[in-house]
Amino acid sequence: MIQQQNLHISKRDRSCQKSQTPKIIWLTGLSGAGKSTIANELDKILFENNKHSYILDGDNIRSGLSQDLSFTDTDRIENIRRIAEVSKLFLDAGVIVITAFISPFIEERNLARSLFEQDEFFEVFINTPIETAEKRDVKGLYKKAREGKIKLFTGIDSPYEKPISPEIEIITTELSAYEAAQKIYNIVFL
Ligand code: ADX
Repeated sequence: MIQQQNLHISKRDRSCQKSQTPKIIWLTGLSGAGKSTIANELDKILFENNKHSYILDGDNIRSGLSQDLSFTDTDRIENIRRIAEVSKLFLDAGVIVITAFISPFIEERNLARSLFEQDEFFEVFINTPIETAEKRDVKGLYKKAREGKIKLFTGIDSPYEKPISPEIEIITTELSAYEAAQKIYNIVFL
């Protein structure tokens, strides 16, 4: 049986020391929607405002913590479960976490949400039409998916379930990455 260790210094103590309230900014959207770019802009704004934030990003986590996982539904769910748990540790440490994962399923995003307090978790839908993401195709993955060289690609042969009532929606065809980050910052931190 595993017993949780009680820590003497609380989340509140750590956030007071940092003069900030830890939050989790959960970006969700298609591959190539602009999640990482917006995450980086937001991270910069927070840094300039003396806040301690940290980005957890799909491509980085998948080459380390989740390198054993594929893109089947089951593995994507396990990927998101790990990220949610890691984010929770960061929050306990008083840090503001920005996550940038496709996180395609409503249920897994709700599961992530359930680990946090109500005013801690902000789901942000990075809404980019698939046509736009595919046209940009920064990593050339859509082309490969269309050619059948990559299977189970989100938006092509694997589903993306749009958020129903996200705290924030960013329509990337209307805002620059910086404007999107500023919008998120204003809503969550001001
Ligand atoms: S998630 O579905 O489990 O949330 P995650 O955000 O970690 O996905 O990883 C997505 C990134 O992995 C994409 O931006 C893309 O670069 C890469 N990738 C490789 N294969 C796939 C695939 N089949 N579907 C989606 N993304 C893929």
